[in-house]
Amino acid sequence: MARPSWDEEMRVAAITTLDSKQWVKGAQSKAFGKAFAEHCGARSATPCQNGSSALWAALRIAGIGPGDEVIVPSFTFISSTTCVLLVGAKPVFVDIESDYFCIDLEQVRQALTPKTKAVIGVHLFGQPYCSELVTFCQEHDLVLIEDAAQAHGAKQLFPDGTMRSAGAMGDIGCFSFFPSKNMAVGGEGGMLTTTQSKYEDKIFGITDHGRSPDLEAIQLGSNLRMSEVSASIGLVQLSNLDTWVELRRQKAELYTQALVGHKTLNAPAIRPNTQHAWHQYCVQTSNPDSLVAHFDSLGIDTRRYYPIPSHQQHVYKDHPQYTERLENTAIAANSLVAIPVMHELNDVETQRIVNALMSYK
Ligand SMILES: Cc1ncc(COP(=O)(O)O)c(C=O)c1O
Repeated sequence: MARPSWDEEMRVAAITTLDSKQWVKGAQSKAFGKAFAEHCGARSATPCQNGSSALWAALRIAGIGPGDEVIVPSFTFISSTTCVLLVGAKPVFVDIESDYFCIDLEQVRQALTPKTKAVIGVHLFGQPYCSELVTFCQEHDLVLIEDAAQAHGAKQLFPDGTMRSAGAMGDIGCFSFFPSKNMAVGGEGGMLTTTQSKYEDKIFGITDHGRSPDLEAIQLGSNLRMSEVSASIGLVQLSNLDTWVELRRQKAELYTQALVGHKTLNAPAIRPNTQHAWHQYCVQTSNPDSLVAHFDSLGIDTRRYYPIPSHQQHVYKDHPQYTERLENTAIAANSLVAIPVMHELNDVETQRIVNALMSYK
């Protein structure tokens, strides 16, 4: 399903950083943050330890805590929602769109209460959430936290004519560099971005014990810093990101062509005016286990995403929505199978996947 890239340039970057003995708090993390912000069009970006700590930090920076509600999609990776519990606030689960599997704006509207302080939008599988969510949050004075963990390189045309990238489609963006993601850093890693000047200093501070430049702790923070070695690898990976996303797109297009007129499988729909980052290519089927078994028999790895909606996982057993059925979430949980779409697939491997799709009855 995933094979991170590792080449001579990355190896040299990592070894050079180790040789320098500046292993933390150095020029590499600064350069990585700057380059990442430039790439996605955010005001600034701060490297951190992983996507989950980025989400926790984003909520803290937005001032979310006990008594507050945060609207989240249930159909996502678990940490998009447990971050809300970790700051003592209440996640309010909403359904997804039936076609693009991202948070459904109409459901967000209905879930709004006077206690709602923020929305966590997830660019699921690399597909941007609808641009109207941004306007909606602005109109209702809600902080929009962008879970871009799966969306490095995704873009979307906004109604005002601007093309915005993941990381600049909300107030605070959270990325993951887990090795399976569209780009990685040779270990765990994450990035916090922001489009708002009021959050810039706080974001940097929270990753460094909440300290101001003169080292006084002025907010609650922790050590969320990224190591210099990871940042130096990330810099090289970032310079390849656009090429890698294009390779993913080409593979996705081949799969979609192979699925035209298929009797039992549906290709994923792409939201108009967006550039999907194709972190995952999820095929929809009424019998996901049988599709997984078919690929298994051909020696091809697949994954079901996400068979248990977040709000129905044990950690939420005391949540009032634990037994609630969210219709589109339930359908997606019982029908999606991700097939390999990583940029590292060679032509022979890609063709094997195309053949596997076509031979499935
Ligand atoms: C949508 C989403 N959010 C958050 C995360 C958390 O990122 P990390 O694994 O780096 O903590 C992930 C990672 O898998 C993810 O896919």
